Amino acid sequence: MSSNPLSAYACPSLPQDAFASATLEGLGRSQKIIPCAWLYDQRGSELFEEITQLDEYYPTRTEIGILQACAPLLAEAIAPGAVVVELGSGSSRKTPLLLRALREPHAYVPVDIAEDFLRASASALAADFPELTVLPVVADFTQPFHLPPQVSGTPHPRLGFFPGSTIGNFTPAEAVRFLQHAARLLGHNRRMVIGVDATKDPAVLVPAYNDSRGITAEFNLNLLHRINLELGADFDVNAFRHEARYHDRLGRIEMHLVSQRKQIVNLLGHRFSFEADETIHTENSYKYSVPEFQALAASAGWHPQAVWQDPAGRFSVHLLSNIVSETA
Ligand code: AVI
Repeated sequence: MSSNPLSAYACPSLPQDAFASATLEGLGRSQKIIPCAWLYDQRGSELFEEITQLDEYYPTRTEIGILQACAPLLAEAIAPGAVVVELGSGSSRKTPLLLRALREPHAYVPVDIAEDFLRASASALAADFPELTVLPVVADFTQPFHLPPQVSGTPHPRLGFFPGSTIGNFTPAEAVRFLQHAARLLGHNRRMVIGVDATKDPAVLVPAYNDSRGITAEFNLNLLHRINLELGADFDVNAFRHEARYHDRLGRIEMHLVSQRKQIVNLLGHRFSFEADETIHTENSYKYSVPEFQALAASAGWHPQAVWQDPAGRFSVHLLSNIVSETA
């Protein structure tokens, strides 16, 4: 196995100009949008970490509580020597809970688009698990990418790990495509652990996305700073404000950046006009009941194997398998 586990394996297909094209294309639409993946530059990733510790943002601590409680049962279901592939690993904060429970995990492959953050989190985790081979991959985990050569083609059981309800940041159709893509990446006879935020009272949901300290607002507005810095735009960030709305019929929280006045923004030779109160839609966060999520996973070819919830039913952790037959 590699003696240099932390040299991040850069996915060759990561397009350098993807941010520019996504932003130009999204701002050209009648409802302006920028995909939420672009919220996570270094600053955005740090702000998201702060969000996860806010009183109002219940998902992280709730999921950690569930993982702590179900870890022994999870470990029983997973064969020894697993390769754990975490898609969108961020801070890898929940990973130790899983790795400590598993029987002799063989390798950990954190996959994330934010390279500096990925390297820092992977190094911290490797220091805590000196026996484990840690193989970070810099990639957009929603797009096809290759597992590092050290683990592709080996017979170790593979376990996908997708905590945090990041699945909710896809539309249901995108979530199905993502789950199919994860099944292809992990191969046949594999399992996946996924955290899913539950449908609940908007009086709990909206403050979770519009906290009293304004950290989520800063996280959302950081996207405009990033566009100014990296793409040379001239957004007047103070002329926008953060808004979180619950869309009842679609069962999702939406984050928007609201233009506070009529204005023009210049970006890469293009002019984008904003009316007062016009918004850029920057994120969806879908919420699913257990049966809704199990049906979604089944439509992507995954079988629900087990599910765990907190006592208040705020969040669920699913163990899925695409095992056709244990002897196959
Ligand atoms: C990463 N993702 C699951 C978070 C969520 O809850 O949808 C992102 C987030 N946006 C605002 N607060 C948290």
